[in-house]
Amino acid sequence: MMDVQTQKIEALIGKMTLEEKIGQLQQCGPSLVGAFEVSFEELLDMMFDGRISQEEFGRLMSTAEKDFHEDDLRAGKIGSYNGVGDALTANRLQKIAVEESRLGIPLLFGYDVIHGFRTVTPIPLAESCAWEPELWQKTARMSAEEATAAGIHMTFAPMVDVAKDARWGRVSEGAGEDTLLNGDYGAAKVRGFQGEDLSQADAMAACLKHFAAYGAGEAGKDYNRVDMSAQRLWEEYLPAYKACIDAGARAVMPAFNDLNGVPCTVNEWLLRDVLRDEWGFDGITVSDANAIAECVNHGVVVDRQAAAKEALQAGIDMDMTSNVYAENLAGLIEAGGVAEDLLDQAVYRILKLKVELGLFEHPYRTDEEKEKRTLVKPEYRALAREAATKSMVLLKNEAILPLNPQQKIAVFGALANDPGQMTGAWAIGAQENDCVSLVQAMDAQGISYAYHPGIVDGIVAMDEINQFAEKADVVILAIGEQKEESGEAASKADISLPAIQLELTETLLRTGKPVIAVLFNGRPLAIPTVAEQVPAILEAWHPGIEAGNAILDILYGAVNPSAKLTTTFPFATGQCPLYYDHISTGRPGGKSKFTSKYLDTPLEPVYPFGYGLSYTAFSYSNLQVETSGDAVQLAVTVTNSGAREGEEIVQCYVQDIVAKRARPVKQLKAYQKVLLQPGESITIEFEVPFEKLGYYDQKMEYVLEVGEFAFFVGGNSRDNLSETIHLSFI
Ligand code: GLC
Repeated sequence: MMDVQTQKIEALIGKMTLEEKIGQLQQCGPSLVGAFEVSFEELLDMMFDGRISQEEFGRLMSTAEKDFHEDDLRAGKIGSYNGVGDALTANRLQKIAVEESRLGIPLLFGYDVIHGFRTVTPIPLAESCAWEPELWQKTARMSAEEATAAGIHMTFAPMVDVAKDARWGRVSEGAGEDTLLNGDYGAAKVRGFQGEDLSQADAMAACLKHFAAYGAGEAGKDYNRVDMSAQRLWEEYLPAYKACIDAGARAVMPAFNDLNGVPCTVNEWLLRDVLRDEWGFDGITVSDANAIAECVNHGVVVDRQAAAKEALQAGIDMDMTSNVYAENLAGLIEAGGVAEDLLDQAVYRILKLKVELGLFEHPYRTDEEKEKRTLVKPEYRALAREAATKSMVLLKNEAILPLNPQQKIAVFGALANDPGQMTGAWAIGAQENDCVSLVQAMDAQGISYAYHPGIVDGIVAMDEINQFAEKADVVILAIGEQKEESGEAASKADISLPAIQLELTETLLRTGKPVIAVLFNGRPLAIPTVAEQVPAILEAWHPGIEAGNAILDILYGAVNPSAKLTTTFPFATGQCPLYYDHISTGRPGGKSKFTSKYLDTPLEPVYPFGYGLSYTAFSYSNLQVETSGDAVQLAVTVTNSGAREGEEIVQCYVQDIVAKRARPVKQLKAYQKVLLQPGESITIEFEVPFEKLGYYDQKMEYVLEVGEFAFFVGGNSRDNLSETIHLSFI
């Protein structure tokens, strides 16, 4: 017996023409590359690359203004838009859909709300360094309140692509290299975006992405092939997406990449066998931008018509901006090339999401007045500042920090004085005048300082630098990456600092003044020289609109830094991919020659996964490990042995020492963040279910193998207490 909702949807589908059904699968967007407006030059390049035809180029060029294809909308040929980010436009388009189309089916507005909408918070890689699901959920809730006030119904987030290669530009967009953290981060974001009831006006459907293993692109090159064993896929990459499905995500975006040769966009095993049959996902799938059409480039379909057929059969419900469904599905169905039932199933899921969002009853969930009073509220700005201070990792501090207000400051580096750069990648709703740079924050807080960009017309301004530095007690140096060097289509073959930034660093070190390096970047950078020579280093990432205030909160000690890296900092690009949960190999890297290492780099990373300093110090003692029921119980004493209160992220790792398939030397299995007063000790307890200690054997059976297991507990992945116990899992 169908429930009432299903009956209503099925009845509506029964009234729809073939063209109207196909219209529900059509998502219009600003361009063929998703949310990005593309310039005339880029369109020309796309045509010369063969990514668009001359006709497509002509069509795109003929629309001077942003084209919302209103006539198609009236004709019921559009079901959704990507990239509409204001209430006025959203309501205008919704009115056409609801009041001027034959069946009045409401539109679904999708948008990339990745780390905030207008109130931009730290990039996800930064926020993941807080190791705080409650924070991740709070910032997601805030961004949902803001984005829905601007007319948005669904965000193309969270991105939970485990990323172990720092050359990839999109490492900025997820929670780093660890499986557990990406899953916890994604699940918290889903809860925050969607709230308790999706039909609430401030609820936003979460579209987890990119399914699957987009972060494992060969050589860290964006869109590149992904080829891995089933064991590794299921152990290291799929669990993060599954955590988001279990948290209730209502949409999934397949990845651009192929998976072992089959593009995710037409990968029926992935989209139906795993996602729907095994995981029970009943929401919608929406292709990535133009991805259905690009299956022709992948070389798995002969043309766009074949792409349409393969994608629908594989389980793609909504076509983001490729037009392939609109151009081909009617002909395919009428010729019997693809079953209309497959189309009806996709239409059903899309209509069901619109029902869940309450769009049939309330197609207009916002208005311009609500939008105006919601955007960048003071409490949102305060939360963005809190998130930024919790994301910044103190990497080094040789008794330089915290600063005291009497010290005379000289600030060098353009990134200290460029508010627009603070948002990082994927902040398409951001407005530069919402952002606070380091220099602007110093002005606002009445801190006296001297500022100089340090590099003028591509040259380090030695004389002026020396003059400025001479008058200062301490020097702050802002170095790192532009936001354009991070995010999509921003892979790098060299993740070291530009030579001129190193020259600026060394020039400042030669002044003899204490130097504090503040890093602004969207990926781990290879910074061995800075790490060795600069006495204080704060990893600020791209920290969002409250960048400057958050940095000062840390530098002057108003906030005691507590963040820990969720991504390894290699010594050199050539080490990528470099990550903590590696396997041992038969010749683990060591001093002797014939071991797994490089001739020209040290074995250890510059900074390991889980690493981060505080203005106080923590010590660990008394690690206890035993089994109880079907879990391993751990207890450890953590003491704040320093002089001020601080938060410590206590991390619990495990190694299955002997197994039929080599297991990682360490895997994060649990973590807790605790606040300790000076001198305070606390016993932290962890429970690791036996189920979490298994792996897939060569036959892809998930096994718990009896044997010795080492447990490690500490403040990072390198410095730990450890105990080894025998587990027989009975
Ligand atoms: C882009 C990205 C995807 C984004 C989509 C819509 O190409 O790959 O993450 O959500 O387009 O803007």
